[in-house]
Amino acid sequence: MALLNDEIQGVAAPERVPHWGIRPGTTTQPVSLRRLVGGLPVVGPLVRRARRAVWPTYAFARVEAVDERGRVGNVLNYAKARDTAYSALPYPAGYQTVRLVDGSEIAGQRDPAQRVALIPIDLQGKTVLDLGCNQGGMLLALREQIEHGIGIDYDPRMVNAANRVRANLEAANLDFYVFDLEREPLALIRDLIPGGQVDVVFLLAVCMWLRNWRDVIDFARSISDEMIFESNGTQKQQAEQEAYLRGRYRTVTLLAAHSDDDPRQQQRMLFHAHQ
Ligand SMILES: C[S@@+](CC[C@H](N)C(=O)[O-])C[C@H]1O[C@@H](n2cnc3c(N)ncnc32)[C@H](O)[C@@H]1O
Repeated sequence: MALLNDEIQGVAAPERVPHWGIRPGTTTQPVSLRRLVGGLPVVGPLVRRARRAVWPTYAFARVEAVDERGRVGNVLNYAKARDTAYSALPYPAGYQTVRLVDGSEIAGQRDPAQRVALIPIDLQGKTVLDLGCNQGGMLLALREQIEHGIGIDYDPRMVNAANRVRANLEAANLDFYVFDLEREPLALIRDLIPGGQVDVVFLLAVCMWLRNWRDVIDFARSISDEMIFESNGTQKQQAEQEAYLRGRYRTVTLLAAHSDDDPRQQQRMLFHAHQ
């Protein structure tokens, strides 16, 4: 029988792991159709070639940069190349306004500083986890107050942009990771957080994009007593999100009935949830 790409002849087949993930102490992964097909001679290379044809590389015209602002600008522009609703293509910085160490600003669709000003919690010395952080704008705006910020997003270009701005601002207390809230085990987020718990979770304008948003709220509740939550989507979706939040937390306070910081879309609501 043909060997899969990374199988070694003579080594006993590893025990199959019946769940997503890697068994501690081994590098065994569950059997996957993609891996099986990809490893087949002739078929594997054909499938890879077809995939490259269907999903071409990102169209992106890099501008030769003469300074730091230009270099960061290129990374921000590249982060928009995915062109989703939250790429905010018409805005130079994308979804979130970016401020650099020299005090200059690159405009985005939403200025995180305006939402930060609505947060009623004293975040001095606190640990904050931002789920679906985009370019890290909320944590970057809070970098001088908080002790540690961890931002996660499933879009690697957004996370690259967050890291690039973090480097410009020399914000060593922030970490940004690629993580898919729908497809990866939520409990693994605990391992991205030193201490396994945080003081506050941000879940802002993310739920309409997630099928498992209820699980994500439950997970947030399991690692922190407090959450700053922004609902998004249709009125019905937002009503469902608010009702779920109120059912899970002891107190839920409305902080803003509209997202006035966004000139394009003001129909989001901001809440503070506490258990
Ligand atoms: C509308 S933006 C909100 C960004 C940020 N929370 C804010 O309010 O400024 C939605 C964000 O959720 C992220 N996102 C969508 N689906 C995700 C998933 N499955 N896992 C992790 N992040 C996701 C997107 O990449 C995007 O950055």
